[in-house]
Amino acid sequence: MSIKKIHTSQPKEFKFSGENMRKVEQILKKYPEKNKKSAVMPLLYLAQRQNDNWIPLAAMKFIAKHLSMPYISVYEVATFYSMYNLEPVGKHFIQVCTTTPCLLRGADKIVKLCKENISPNEHEISKKGNCSWTEVECLGACVSAPMIQVNDNYYEDLDEKSTKEILISLINDKPLKPGSYRGRKNTAPEKISINEEDKHA
Ligand code: FES
Repeated sequence: MSIKKIHTSQPKEFKFSGENMRKVEQILKKYPEKNKKSAVMPLLYLAQRQNDNWIPLAAMKFIAKHLSMPYISVYEVATFYSMYNLEPVGKHFIQVCTTTPCLLRGADKIVKLCKENISPNEHEISKKGNCSWTEVECLGACVSAPMIQVNDNYYEDLDEKSTKEILISLINDKPLKPGSYRGRKNTAPEKISINEEDKHA
């Protein structure tokens, strides 16, 4: 897992759009006024979504001020969790789970394919300018190992062939559909899901 880098080119200012400001107010209603800093994580996530999937330092400062908390505390949260990107990522952002269950099932081969097809290093934008990748810890889909997350979607039960096809589809801006690549239904055991498919065929 790479150490998080802060983007070298930072916008001077950040503010939430009108629509997102309304979402901020809704989020804040979930917390007592004295504990409003607990909203730091959803606000960081909202800032990331507004800003092409990465969080500039100006957004952390804005959030710190809005939640009346020290900037360094917001910075600590943003740099700790892998779900926050602190530098631009590709339009198709690929997160490869390399925690033990996925690793035992071939995640190292997925990393190799990312290096060969997307970019040699994590967080490097691909030659075509539309993809980047990184290694992450468990994404909570161990039962479908190995797996990757692309933006908001999970691609599961992968092998080298299916991973390569998915990566090529992303490079060509025609993403294949997410889900299990062994034809399983959700996380059902393979045999049952095949029987279920037969029933509806
Ligand atoms: S170990 Fe990969 S999803 Fe849990």
